[in-house]
Amino acid sequence: MIEFDHVSKTYKDGTKAVKDFSLQINEGELFTLIGPSGCGKTTTMKMINRLVKPTDGTIKIADKKISDYDMHQLRWNIGYVLQQIALFPHMTIEENISIVPEMKKWKKDEIKERIKVLLDMVGLDPKQFMNRMPHELSGGQQQRIGVVRALAADPDIILMDEPFSALDPISREQLQKDIQALQKKIQKTIVFVTHDMDEALAISDRICLMKEGEIIQVGTPKQLILHPENEFARTFIGDKRSPWQESVETLLVHNESRTNDREGVEKEAITIAHDQAVVEAVKLFEDNNTELLRVVKGEQTIGEISYRDILRFLRKHIKLENGVMK
Ligand SMILES: Nc1ncnc2c1ncn2[C@@H]1O[C@H](COP(=O)(O)OP(=O)(O)OP(=O)(O)O)[C@@H](O)[C@H]1O
Ligand SMILES: [Mg+2]
Repeated sequence: MIEFDHVSKTYKDGTKAVKDFSLQINEGELFTLIGPSGCGKTTTMKMINRLVKPTDGTIKIADKKISDYDMHQLRWNIGYVLQQIALFPHMTIEENISIVPEMKKWKKDEIKERIKVLLDMVGLDPKQFMNRMPHELSGGQQQRIGVVRALAADPDIILMDEPFSALDPISREQLQKDIQALQKKIQKTIVFVTHDMDEALAISDRICLMKEGEIIQVGTPKQLILHPENEFARTFIGDKRSPWQESVETLLVHNESRTNDREGVEKEAITIAHDQAVVEAVKLFEDNNTELLRVVKGEQTIGEISYRDILRFLRKHIKLENGVMK
């Protein structure tokens, strides 16, 4: 677990890059930092592997302050994909990737095998690429080498600062899938930076939305979409709600006459909380073979919804294009 406790960073020139940042990143989690340019994402990342020293507060990894770790041990166990990929220009791709595994004293053929597997994973043919020099690769290919290099020595934590920014949408989507699959398989903690909300929503377990060095909201993609903290969050996330994710309460609001008719709601009817999503209501209908749900807010009944209400609601809100659902 990575723990930030009231961490701030003010650079020498007075720039307050990160302000009173407190949060926990769980082990095995894919955690994304997102926010506008200059909001402090890279600074936050660099404080984890001690490339930047906090002005205030403490950062702990596995319950131990990072300042108490041997710096080399710490860095070797934290893979880092830099925002601007920097491969050593006079070393081949293979040599570039081998640096940390060699420091960790892995066996030569073990390293070679690992590099082959990882290059394959990012869609670069090992035979073709291992012996090339960095300048013989395109920008996007170099970026992929950056990802491979960060993963090479099997670190416990991987920091990825906009690792896919130079890639075309197809390679990007492929790598997003690869990283997700890899993370599920090896259960590494990945801290990921992007300014692309769709990317963040697609791959993250949790997302931290930042603005001007401060945390605006931390939550799962679903929480951010359904309950944006404020107007900034709403705008940044964009309108990603599908009618299926609207709360059942929205249906009641759309259908006010029903909410006033509380007396008529059957006491025995299955209940659903007002903030549950339409899709949950559909599940309840199906699992319980019932026609009516009682909508409750705390102890109070605030209305009822029928299967038919849901159909009507979805029909109204799901866009049809040439008769086909979009
Ligand atoms: N070494 C430095 N000295 C002074 N100010 C710095 C330094 N590095 C970063 N900053 C400033 O700190 C703030 C946060 O920068 P940071 O690089 O963390 O932002 P970011 O969220 O990663 O932005 P981007 O999305 O553009 O990469 C910015 O205002 C930046 O100008
Ligand atoms: Mg940055």
